[in-house]
Amino acid sequence: MQFSAKVADISKQRSACSIISADAKNNLSESGKSLDKLTGGMIAKILKRGDLGAKSGSTQLINLIDVPSERVLVVRTGKGTISQAEFRKLAASSANGVKNFKEAASYLCEVEVEGADNRWKAQQIAMAAGLASYRYTLSRTDAKPLPLAKFTIHAPEKKQLKAIQGGMEVGAAQALGSNVARDLGDLPGNICTPNYLVAQAKALAKKHAKLTTSVLDEKKMKALGMGAFLSVSKGSDEPPALIAMNYKGGKASEKPVVLVGKGITFDSGGISIKPGQAMDEMKYDMGGAASVFGVMNALVELQPSINVVGLVAAAENMPSGRASKPGDVVTSMSGKTIEILNTDAEGRLVLCDTITYAAKFKPSAVIDIATLTGACVIALGHHATGLYANNEELAKSLLQAGETTGDRAWQMPLWDEYQSSLDSNFADVQNIGGREAGSVTAACFLARFAKDYKWAHMDIAGSAWKSGAQKGATGRPVPLLVEYLLGK
Ligand code: BES
Ligand code: MN
Ligand code: ZN
Repeated sequence: MQFSAKVADISKQRSACSIISADAKNNLSESGKSLDKLTGGMIAKILKRGDLGAKSGSTQLINLIDVPSERVLVVRTGKGTISQAEFRKLAASSANGVKNFKEAASYLCEVEVEGADNRWKAQQIAMAAGLASYRYTLSRTDAKPLPLAKFTIHAPEKKQLKAIQGGMEVGAAQALGSNVARDLGDLPGNICTPNYLVAQAKALAKKHAKLTTSVLDEKKMKALGMGAFLSVSKGSDEPPALIAMNYKGGKASEKPVVLVGKGITFDSGGISIKPGQAMDEMKYDMGGAASVFGVMNALVELQPSINVVGLVAAAENMPSGRASKPGDVVTSMSGKTIEILNTDAEGRLVLCDTITYAAKFKPSAVIDIATLTGACVIALGHHATGLYANNEELAKSLLQAGETTGDRAWQMPLWDEYQSSLDSNFADVQNIGGREAGSVTAACFLARFAKDYKWAHMDIAGSAWKSGAQKGATGRPVPLLVEYLLGK
């Protein structure tokens, strides 16, 4: 989608659909009033009939004749200054209301929002428009992309244009990155294999000078001693891959943030096989990897002066005569031995070796993103990503980035008291804890391999995709991660 910001008078500005707002008492926004005047008061009269819902975020589409706006979408704001959450909601509902037009123009920067400036408002508007324009089409012959291809955000005055432009560009890149992650997540496991992810990484690097890609294949991983990683892929006919995407926007001397994405392209559970119910959703077990791809795409779009490495731990988890078995002991790249008590706790096995490998990049911080535990979904549901960190400053920055973007995370404990549940009689550590606190003990397992860095772990098992009729990847936590990285 093509985004632009400009100062223009709604009464002269041509558009397929202009988005304006009305408060709880049907008072129109500034541009709304101008357009209403041009229509001889028609918009206000139609609103009086009461068709526009009272709830903030309700919308009403009105067709117009003989004015530069072919249509107007009126969105309900509420009483006085509204909250940031409310503004986000109406940015989303208005974007939804225009997604079937080829082009639209938003005048919503005129809405007063508590503690928010124009830059923030433009960012939310652009992000919402970009996200609303997404439709999965890659393996469908019966679905076309949505028409919305051009979106304009109007600045009330020239002095606000720069801030609005800046916010818009960030929001647009966050949506673009999210949509890349959604496509990869939604792709079925027979198409989106580890090799497919390798091809995507190579193609992206080919297009962008600041990005390079390198790939470790099974042989190289063996040579590095990645026994934990390879214990997961060995049951599958799909070869594993450890992909490194290196974005160099900053000085060579500047240490990079390393992102690590869990890229299990299908998680059957292995020998500890999962029950059949909703097993198809385990194609989303590469959601962390998808978010790393999303972030890299946003970075090459925005070209910030920072260094970021995106590592993707790609493998398929399958049962077979060659698969790992419960009770097997493997040696990780760190040298620590691991007793595999459940082959379905495979994410932490590919991640621990990838986290150890991250040392090679001399990271300023390591952040892993993983659809790691069903227990995280039980603890937090689908609204929050579970956040763990061994550094409070890093945790705070990530939480704040979540608040700014509405892509929120909630911090969970990484206390030492939980560690003992991972003690094994036959190895240095076992890959599962007990029944309790499953998301916490998974994080504790990873923490043992991340002692040398500032490290954070994001459990996105609940936030990476939606089930049911609206089944589909969400693209989270791409907005949060991009926001965090740009703030560095
Ligand atoms: N990919 C799953 C986690 C998952 C399950 C995410 C359901 C979203 C929905 C992960 O590999 C897994 O299977 N974890 C096990 C761990 C257990 C064996 C300790 C789980 O959560 O049941
Ligand atoms: Mn599993
Ligand atoms: Zn998994």
